Amino acid sequence: MGSRGSQRSVPGHSIVLTRPRPPPGRAAGAPYAARVATPWWQSAVIYQVYPRSFADANGDGIGDLEGLRRHLEHLVWLGVDAVWLSPIYRSPMADFGYDVSDHCDVDPVFGTLDDADRLVAEAHAAGLKVLLDWVPNHTSDQHPWFVDARRSRDSARRSWYVWRDGRDGGPPNNWRAAFTGELRWELDPATGERRPRAVEGGTGVDPSAWTLDPATGQWYLHLFLPSQPDLDWEEPAVVEAQLDVLRFWLDRGVDGFRADVIHAIGKDPALPDDPPELALVPKSGTNDQPRTHELLRQIRALLDGYPGERMIVGEVYLLDTARVATYYGDGDELHLAFNFPPLMARWRARTWRRQVTEVAEQVDPVGGWPTWVLSNHDNPRHRTRYGTEPRARAAAVLLLGMRGTPFLYAGEELGLEDADVPADRRVDPGGRDGCRAPLPWTRADGHGWGAEPWLPFPPEAGARSVEAQREDPGSVLHLYRRLLAARRASPALAVGDLELVSAADDQAVLAWTRTAGEDRRAVAVNFTAEEQAASLDAAWVVEVASDGAGEGQPFTGRLGPDQAVVLRPA
Ligand code: GLC
Repeated sequence: MGSRGSQRSVPGHSIVLTRPRPPPGRAAGAPYAARVATPWWQSAVIYQVYPRSFADANGDGIGDLEGLRRHLEHLVWLGVDAVWLSPIYRSPMADFGYDVSDHCDVDPVFGTLDDADRLVAEAHAAGLKVLLDWVPNHTSDQHPWFVDARRSRDSARRSWYVWRDGRDGGPPNNWRAAFTGELRWELDPATGERRPRAVEGGTGVDPSAWTLDPATGQWYLHLFLPSQPDLDWEEPAVVEAQLDVLRFWLDRGVDGFRADVIHAIGKDPALPDDPPELALVPKSGTNDQPRTHELLRQIRALLDGYPGERMIVGEVYLLDTARVATYYGDGDELHLAFNFPPLMARWRARTWRRQVTEVAEQVDPVGGWPTWVLSNHDNPRHRTRYGTEPRARAAAVLLLGMRGTPFLYAGEELGLEDADVPADRRVDPGGRDGCRAPLPWTRADGHGWGAEPWLPFPPEAGARSVEAQREDPGSVLHLYRRLLAARRASPALAVGDLELVSAADDQAVLAWTRTAGEDRRAVAVNFTAEEQAASLDAAWVVEVASDGAGEGQPFTGRLGPDQAVVLRPA
């Protein structure tokens, strides 16, 4: 590792992130004019759909595949390149689809396999790639595999899950499950250190990652809910069965997968106790085993065996960029790995400088192509975290100005805040309902949903609806559209090198340039509510401004309060 990518530190305060490694078979240093020469998932912007909350065609208050199909036009108009769907498979919905009971069928609440085929075909016809969520670490306890496994110690599929005898009348070790309602593994926004943090919500269930199965007298492992037993990837039949799931969907034409908690699949076979300082932290945030890398190489080989640049982006929930970087392997594991420290970072210039620098120092040297995420279905939306719309707008400029593949979470293009979900409507065992509120499509009450949706709408749903914002050129929605158009039109923004230009001690502004051959852009973000100087000279024209101010005009060298800009050479 480390031989193919390179990172240069230049004197002074700049950091240079170098261009992506050329795809196999292409000469190093190929000109960026050949943007098409980079794999699609490097220049793409990927849009996450949480199917329950996106659009409801059959009027039952829960989003479905037909609802998404009818709104593909929104994604094309917006200008994203690919859509990732959170799980659509058959599921008892204890974790809203992340508890799969049949990997090769669509849950009736979302539609049918025919609906999925039609969606993929129409998305492709519209120029959009389609990624599905793949949940390799665990299944539902209702999955026929687990139903068989728990029937007896002699069941054919007993070895597909992790069974152990108890220890002194209790669970086999001290591992902790997620969603147990007390602690979560997070980054301290002030120091960047990992630490356990108390969370709201939760199930109030036993915090152990083990549940006793009384009928067979053994305990089974579950890093998440007791109804989500972990598969045992040491069992070759499990590997084959899960690779078959990938084949099933690849054969149907999907372009790749987002792999759920992929870092969790390989376990230490000795299942040792966690040290005391980790004993209160869910194991799903710390499990990091060499075995997973062997498995990923198999998974990657399968994808690479298909034509058409199929890809896999993995959720590596380790909150440590250096660890995340190892999941790219030597170009033979994940194509992309989610790196969540930026998702947890505070809205501060120096904090964000550290995020960019960390990626430069950790991901670039292994030849990995970075990812950037501000919002998803597991965390409060960034509009909610940062507190104001002007900041959320500036964050959109920051995200779409980064080097790496950005992921948008449906509704962030509307500037949605999390819904305030009253106690009697809370449904998620992980306390994540707020960010899963339904998308408002129309201004009028009902907002395009036939029935009362499964969760309440977010605040200001009418004014923030797609309908209202499409009519308003000054809206957040139009800002995202302009940013996506600018990114698509500029190789520098899409795949170019990144060089920080603001001073390391600048607490107000972060500015950088992007370069691909002759093509150049600059991005500057004011993290404060006061006007600031931008660390860039005036040889630029404002291409996109977070508040729309001055677009098409020469850049003055100053940024308004909470303003962020994309600049092109004058
Ligand atoms: C991932 C998903 C989350 C889910 C969990 C268990 O973290 O993003 O929504 O609850 O895995 O599958």
